[in-house]
Amino acid sequence: MTTTSVSATSPSPLQQFVPAVEWMVIEPLIEEIQDLKKDRKAVVLAHNYQVPTIYRGVADFTGDSLALARQAVASEAEVIVMAGVYFMAETAKILNPSRTVLIPSLQAGCSLADSITAEDVRSLRRTYPGVPVVSYVNTSAAVKAETDVCCTSANALQVVESLGVPRVIFLPDRYLGRNVAAQTEVELILWEGVCEVHEHFTPEQIRGLRSDYAGIKIVAHPECTPEVLAEADFSGSTSGMIDYVARNQPQRVALITECSMSDNVAADFPDVQFVRPCNLCPYMKRITLEGIRDALLQRQYVVEVDADIARRARSAVERMLAVGRAEQRAA
Ligand code: 13P
Ligand code: SF4
Repeated sequence: MTTTSVSATSPSPLQQFVPAVEWMVIEPLIEEIQDLKKDRKAVVLAHNYQVPTIYRGVADFTGDSLALARQAVASEAEVIVMAGVYFMAETAKILNPSRTVLIPSLQAGCSLADSITAEDVRSLRRTYPGVPVVSYVNTSAAVKAETDVCCTSANALQVVESLGVPRVIFLPDRYLGRNVAAQTEVELILWEGVCEVHEHFTPEQIRGLRSDYAGIKIVAHPECTPEVLAEADFSGSTSGMIDYVARNQPQRVALITECSMSDNVAADFPDVQFVRPCNLCPYMKRITLEGIRDALLQRQYVVEVDADIARRARSAVERMLAVGRAEQRAA
């Protein structure tokens, strides 16, 4: 997993991502955002699914959910603008209660986070007394508050195994859960949530790619079904997928995930052919350059988390970050 630091870039390389007529609008917008960030002592954290003009044009840090959570801890900026979805902004706020965290669109949700409530978790605990709860970070702060330890797609297996118990309630992504269960002796009790972007990829699609593109490497996100992962050469978090391309530099690759990933990664690997069977995340795409500009200008939309929920959710997120630190020390 990597976190890329992006300095105030010369905007010209970005022109490859936008039609010439749009560039006339986008270039001044990027400059305005760069000035506003300095003025407001703000940083923009951008998920790997953001469009290249955000990812390369205005982000100070990019990464997967885990990297963004870590960066939210490391950042000393007064204002954090989350160019991602709402649960990522809430995580940043939970970890930085004294800072201002802004999300440029209140429509930037997530089908996984919406699939489960705090009451659902309490009910599961009543059904399975004493069984610890591991929640994917793609959950609301209220669900995290009912959780023992959070995980991301980058560390789900390590987190589950770190508990040293035979049975774990694993929420809310049933496919990530099944994919983790295939790699561990720990029994996972699953919830029925799905990512509406990744559930649409099919094994037939992957086999079609292999027959159409000789030698292609298939790199899939673990929110895809186990049947899709069985057809893949590698599975990992979004940053894990980028690392795979960087390490292996395959002649051809398909990133089985959200569309913008390929645009962002392809620019760094001109010798790799990216075949793009992608699905758009409608929530990630609610974040726009105009929205980021307005977030900085008008200090909107401020992310608030109830103090008691934040305290309990923080313990679940910090416990996850501690698992990562323990792994690093052991390595
Ligand atoms: P990553 O943590 O792998 O970036 O995944 C977040 C996400 O929402 C994938 O759909
Ligand atoms: Fe949620 Fe799926 Fe979008 Fe990721 S890609 S934010 S899991 S809906």
